[in-house]
Amino acid sequence: MSENFMKNKILVTGGAGYIGSHTCIALHEAGYDIVVYDNLSNSSREAINRVSTLIGETIEFVEGDIRDNELLREVFALHEFFGVIHFAGLKAVGESVVKPLLYYNNNVSGTITLLEVMSEYNVKNLVFSSSATVYGDPDTLPIEESSKRSCANPYGQSKLAVEYILEDLAVSDDSWNLISLRYFNPVGAHASGQIGEDPNDIPNNLMPYVSQVAIGKLEKLSIFGNDYSTIDGTGVRDFIHVTDLAQGHVAALDYLEQQTSSEIYSNTASPIGFLPINLGTGKGTSVLELISTFSDVSGQAIPYQFASRRAGDIASCYASSEKAKNLLGWQAELSIADMCKDTWHWQSMNPNGYTMS
Ligand code: NAD
Ligand code: UFG
Repeated sequence: MSENFMKNKILVTGGAGYIGSHTCIALHEAGYDIVVYDNLSNSSREAINRVSTLIGETIEFVEGDIRDNELLREVFALHEFFGVIHFAGLKAVGESVVKPLLYYNNNVSGTITLLEVMSEYNVKNLVFSSSATVYGDPDTLPIEESSKRSCANPYGQSKLAVEYILEDLAVSDDSWNLISLRYFNPVGAHASGQIGEDPNDIPNNLMPYVSQVAIGKLEKLSIFGNDYSTIDGTGVRDFIHVTDLAQGHVAALDYLEQQTSSEIYSNTASPIGFLPINLGTGKGTSVLELISTFSDVSGQAIPYQFASRRAGDIASCYASSEKAKNLLGWQAELSIADMCKDTWHWQSMNPNGYTMS
């Protein structure tokens, strides 16, 4: 950090969650001053405590809901924010099919409330957590940001709806700078083993399921489909280490800072507008390849069986990461082995996640 670095203050909604907690550390290391706002609906205070211990400073934390206009206004009145990183949202695809209103209310109405309060306090810089799910089943690979968007479940639709809202907002008023980061498949944990992904129930996603099989909490993995036209018949995804993803957020904020600095601003009316950017590694890994690497780095057998395809799954999905590289100067550094090693470290140090028993 250079000596004349100006510490900008950032509101991190959903900062107690999996990606948010890792990003808080990266932001702190990059010199940003942060306030975390989270209703703890899918996270715990222990995550915040551990982040505080890791950074050697008590994180400023507000327990609150993004749909609570009054509380948000209090927080914005108290702090002078440069911008917001908006992680807060519900993310379980299956649950969203059963409870669509909850998902639209939380993810879409919640974001509208946040944007209204930001507007009122003239905070117009936002980094939004979008997802590769907005691409649905892609026509071509790797997926570029200009690819068509379509998705079939309420969770994905809620991300898409927010993207459309952000686009309209940017058109309506060019003082908004709205970056939509489309994450591919975030996995892994902080190298310390102190923070990581802590699913509430039986995991839906591959990596946490594999690590719970490895530790003996779950008996065996079902691989959903071995008849896809992929390298070995199993699904292919672009797994990205959560630490790399966290750095992607720092790069996005740095970019926002640069682009909104007075010299650049004076040359162009709308330096950013609505800007979608993929955060992926650009490489696809199959389910079987991931299991094999996990088994190698952990020394644990991962028993599995083949099962039928999971409804809504696609064969292959991986990013073009050129835009992130060219615009943000960011690219993923860590390998699949690093992702498996750090997941295993977190899982074996915290067999019950943040619940200490
Ligand atoms: P997470 O559930 O661990 O974190 C989300 C956080 O938001 C939680 O701490 C939760 O308590 C909080 N939250 C939810 N609703 C809230 C509300 N109304 N008000 C305040 N706080 C609220 O999930 P994550 O994996 O860290 O994901 C972060 C974001 O990234 C989400 O928006 C998610 O949709 C998106 N995303 C995640 C993935 C993934 O695979 N993990 C992939 C693509 C996009
Ligand atoms: N898989 C299994 N068995 C399991 C779990 C997953 O075989 O028990 C397979 C899936 O069929 C898929 C691959 O592992 O082929 C990855 O599945 P995940 O559930 O880990 O991830 P998805 O790609 O299905 O979805 C994830 C997030 C979504 C997000 C999407 C973005 O869960 O929220 O990435 O691409 F929208």
